[in-house]
Amino acid sequence: MKVVLKSALVVAMALSVGGVALAADKKPAMPAWKMQGDELEIAMSLKGDAKEGRDIYEVCAACHLPEGWGLSDGTFPQLAGQHHNVLVKQLADIRAQNRDNPTMYPFALPSQIGGPQAVADVVEYIATLPMTPENGVGPGTDLALGEQLYKDNCVRCHGANGEGNNEKYFPRIHGQHFEYIKRQFREIRDGKRRNANPDMVKQVKGFSDRDLEAVSDYTSRIKPPADRLGPPGWQNPDFQ
Ligand code: HEC
Ligand code: HEC
Repeated sequence: MKVVLKSALVVAMALSVGGVALAADKKPAMPAWKMQGDELEIAMSLKGDAKEGRDIYEVCAACHLPEGWGLSDGTFPQLAGQHHNVLVKQLADIRAQNRDNPTMYPFALPSQIGGPQAVADVVEYIATLPMTPENGVGPGTDLALGEQLYKDNCVRCHGANGEGNNEKYFPRIHGQHFEYIKRQFREIRDGKRRNANPDMVKQVKGFSDRDLEAVSDYTSRIKPPADRLGPPGWQNPDFQ
């Protein structure tokens, strides 16, 4: 609300200063945590078809790998194991440019993969994939600090073991690659991930770079439940 008011004010001021041309493609500075238009709602209401999803996932596999395990250097996140609602929301956000992802954006557009049904389908397919047992982890040098920070600041939303919460769109963060966790955390802390939950931003705003590194390292080392993990070196037979 505040942000909207402020931006309206800026516009009014700009106009009063004397016809400063506003870039027509400037996105409004709206609170963006849940602003992906109708697609989230529609895709959430649709039943996904994993078979259709497999064909769509072929596009995604180029970066997220056929297994959905991403890269341990964090360039591409692991998608396997992520909550249904989180995947739908993040995809819808990326497609609506409510979360910047220039690398992926052109491949994830409706013109490339289809509308909300495609989102539901591909997410249904991703749900069939086990998680990597060998995600990228940090240096392991500051774990006591990381654990304390996690307990004090993250459990409330991401759970005692980093399991997240499907209903509340809180991502599962355990078993994710360290470098990806770190990058997202930094972007959220610094206000660069526009779709970030404002309560998380508030919670982590005072984190130093050391804090950020330590808590990301600790999080990357929390093991997901054993029954969610695939065997080391597993290859997805759907893409053999
Ligand atoms: C050209 C590479 C590329 C392709 C193709 C691609 N992605 Fe991505 N994707 C990325 C990158 C890079 C990120 C992380 C961006 C960042 O760091 O913010 C990402 C992030 C995501 C996220 C957010 C994950 C999270 O934990 O929040 C989801 C969901 C996702 N991709 C799903 C998909 C799906 C589904 C497809 C296929 C339709 C796909 N991606 C195709 C590169 C790609
Ligand atoms: C008030 C709830 C809340 C708190 C507290 C919180 N988070 Fe989050 N976090 C979220 C939500 C919600 C998202 C997803 C936002 C979105 O939809 O873009 C998120 C996203 C993330 C992501 C990106 C995940 C991905 O797959 O892209 C990371 C990493 C993360 N949080 C780590 C942490 C850590 C570490 C802490 C503690 C220091 C923490 N968060 C505290 C709610 C919270």
